[in-house]
Amino acid sequence: MTQLLNSKMLVVGATGGLGSAISRQLSLQGARLVLAGRNEKKLAALTDQLGDSVIGTVSADLTLPSGPAAVAAAAARGGGLDGVIYAAGVVAFGPLSELDDDAFEQMLLLNFIAPVRLFKNLLPQLKPGSVVVHLSAIVAEKPMKGMAAYSATKCALTGFSAAMGAELRREHIRVLDVRPPHTETGLHTRPISGVPPRLGQGLDPAAVAQRIVSAIMADEPDLPSTAFS
Ligand SMILES: NC(=O)c1ccc[n+]([C@@H]2O[C@H](COP(=O)([O-])OP(=O)(O)OC[C@H]3O[C@@H](n4cnc5c(N)ncnc54)[C@H](OP(=O)(O)O)[C@@H]3O)[C@@H](O)[C@H]2O)c1
Repeated sequence: MTQLLNSKMLVVGATGGLGSAISRQLSLQGARLVLAGRNEKKLAALTDQLGDSVIGTVSADLTLPSGPAAVAAAAARGGGLDGVIYAAGVVAFGPLSELDDDAFEQMLLLNFIAPVRLFKNLLPQLKPGSVVVHLSAIVAEKPMKGMAAYSATKCALTGFSAAMGAELRREHIRVLDVRPPHTETGLHTRPISGVPPRLGQGLDPAAVAQRIVSAIMADEPDLPSTAFS
């Protein structure tokens, strides 16, 4: 059982729909939070909401090579980490022939390269018993047409999580790969390339966040899409 009371947790993408909902749940459990986002206004508003739970904030563009290092440096203040949640991400839609090349690069950088760089930078700060949570997606299990490149970034992240979990098992560091189905954060309305497909009603972000935080506390080894039904 992982105790969150007084734990030190880094939430990356804390300004997003899922990241903010996860931050709220962690705060309710008594965690001390370092919040990382890109939009400084959203970061300040969330910090106001969460009050004393927030022990640090950092704003960084994670697609830049310096971004993950800046987040890790901010997280280092005040001792080692009990957990990290990587909830930053973007999506692109449409057939491959219409995929904008710059958008593809941004998506690959944010959804896969940045969490790998961040993990490497954070290694010295991860305490035994800590957990690293990656927000992958259901498309890592069932890659979808019209979302080929996005699906591939999530497959890459899920594969990385599995290998890192094995690599760090002896150090008692858990890597929890989370693959939620469509969730109503508005992410699909903000694609960086392409036009959103029609999607059915998605899950409630607060319920998804609650499920993720309960999996952290219960030391669950994996959180597949079926865990959200
Ligand atoms: N919503 C879904 O249906 C769903 C389903 C499965 C998996 N997921 C995954 O869950 C994660 C969170 O999704 P969400 O729905 O919460 O999306 P969201 O509300 O759009 O949040 C995205 C987050 O990523 C951050 N971000 C975007 N570009 C960035 C950059 N260049 N550098 C640093 N941060 C950047 C945003 O920061 P700012 O707001 O500060 O710019 C925001 O915090 C994503 O990886 C997504 O793929 C989502």
